[in-house]
Amino acid sequence: MLSNVISSSVDLHAAYGGVVPEIAARSHIEVIIPVIEQALTDANADWDGIDAIAVTQGPGLIGSLLIGALTARTLAITKHKPLIPVNHVLAHAYANFITSTPLPGYTLPKSAVGFPALSLIVSGGHSQIMLYKSHKDYNILGQTRDDAIGEAFDKVAKILGLPYPGGPSIDRAAQMGNPGAIKLPKAKLDSPYDFSFSGLKTAVLRAAQEMAGKDFTFPSYELPKALSEDQKNDLAASFQKTAIDTLADAMVKAEVEFSPKTILLAGGVAANQSLRNELSRRLKNPLLCPDIKLCTDNAAMIAAAAYFMKIPPADPYKLEVIPSL
Ligand code: KG4
Ligand code: ZN
Repeated sequence: MLSNVISSSVDLHAAYGGVVPEIAARSHIEVIIPVIEQALTDANADWDGIDAIAVTQGPGLIGSLLIGALTARTLAITKHKPLIPVNHVLAHAYANFITSTPLPGYTLPKSAVGFPALSLIVSGGHSQIMLYKSHKDYNILGQTRDDAIGEAFDKVAKILGLPYPGGPSIDRAAQMGNPGAIKLPKAKLDSPYDFSFSGLKTAVLRAAQEMAGKDFTFPSYELPKALSEDQKNDLAASFQKTAIDTLADAMVKAEVEFSPKTILLAGGVAANQSLRNELSRRLKNPLLCPDIKLCTDNAAMIAAAAYFMKIPPADPYKLEVIPSL
């Protein structure tokens, strides 16, 4: 990894408590060329030194995908480079395949990934367990039926009046709370590897209303004022523990059934230290986690996926984005 430039629009979305698709797309237009120029400068490279351009084809918000794909298509045509379309969710796991960099401030996995590899990909849009037999042969063992885990963190943070993005805010509040304070339900589904987090979010809402001494008609936007700091911390800690236990239960089952050589954690929620600790504690195999800067969305993981998966190039005049890929 010779460069990994990240420009985030998180601060622009914070005022709205969530991602606003049009704001995301507009800020992509503003920053995409400066980010590419910075990436070349950091890598001490010019276009002659670039072998190929990898780009996210999906899944994601259509406006943001279009800006990325149109820029990559234009560059592939004008700079005469192969254009490699990448699945964003699969690419998250490939952050674990980056094992060396001259860039300062990165802690990378020391051991190479062994197959079969079991992977937990947890982000704002996805929660899925994947089994990779090789770079080409993989399948989804299970996924969320409703909210992604990151989305649940973001929604619970909103209920508690904690700032966006909710994942890191819940994580901080949870350090000061008691994870055993409130008993919350774990969803039971017929497939052991599928998840459901929508009921957990509603259970937090009901518990918060009860702790505030109100009934279920009490509006959620009034809750942050009606709850004490201690109550919020306990709710955050209890939610985080239940969510993490749910993920860990499924991963422990999958490890027994599929006997992987390596376990990979990836996606924005992989930044959560309690999740890392709990998985390391309960799983027998080594757990590989990307550096925090490679957990949330980044370009290096897209390039790593294109490189290791040997994805064939697409026609730069025809490549279409697929928001629901
Ligand atoms: O992978 P990502 O950057 O974007 C998507 O592709 O969705 O993931 C963003 C998600 C957000 O929901 C955010 O709240 C969550 O990752 N997140 C965390 C933490 N840091 C970010 N969730 C839990 N604990 C964290 N420390
Ligand atoms: Zn992502």
